[in-house]
Amino acid sequence: MAIISISSENRTIEGVEAIRSYLSPHGIWFERWPLEERVDPNAPAEEILKAYDSEIKSLMAKGGYVVADVVNITTETPNLEVLLDRFRAEHTHSEDEVRFILRGNGLFHVHPENGPVFAIQVTAGDMINVPKGTKHWFDLCKDRVIRAVRLFQETAGWTPHYVEQSISGDFVPLCFGPKDVAGLARVAPKLSVS
Ligand SMILES: [Fe+2]
Repeated sequence: MAIISISSENRTIEGVEAIRSYLSPHGIWFERWPLEERVDPNAPAEEILKAYDSEIKSLMAKGGYVVADVVNITTETPNLEVLLDRFRAEHTHSEDEVRFILRGNGLFHVHPENGPVFAIQVTAGDMINVPKGTKHWFDLCKDRVIRAVRLFQETAGWTPHYVEQSISGDFVPLCFGPKDVAGLARVAPKLSVS
């Protein structure tokens, strides 16, 4: 289950309804989709897309998405660090970034126009969208694994537009472990900016 951390306010937000209401003013949707009871998260991409057909279709209708695929990143992915560096710099997209997490963990930082930067740690079963034009960046957690369904509004796929005065380097991409999420929450410290 996802967890939000707002380092400048030294607080975290947990629970589906609390997460939804925090994200809603930023145009970010949060849903929980069924996992193993539906399909093996390691199944081939075609089986995954078929198994989540109803959720995908309803999201396509809601957000105008036209294409879905399955992305898989592991420690075995060639040039993993180079790939991650592309996600780690603050950027926007000209379409929504939509992800349903099948396996692994990831950390989105969102830099809204109004309000503090916040981090959303996503894990298996979480679906979120980062609306087009939203400044954000992404990193993997320690396990360096993520498998996710992606939805696109354009068939061109994932294109980042990097922000000139990126602040992503000011934030430590700290993920919460299962124990932390169970109640021993700690907040990722913000590095001092010199
Ligand atoms: Fe992105």
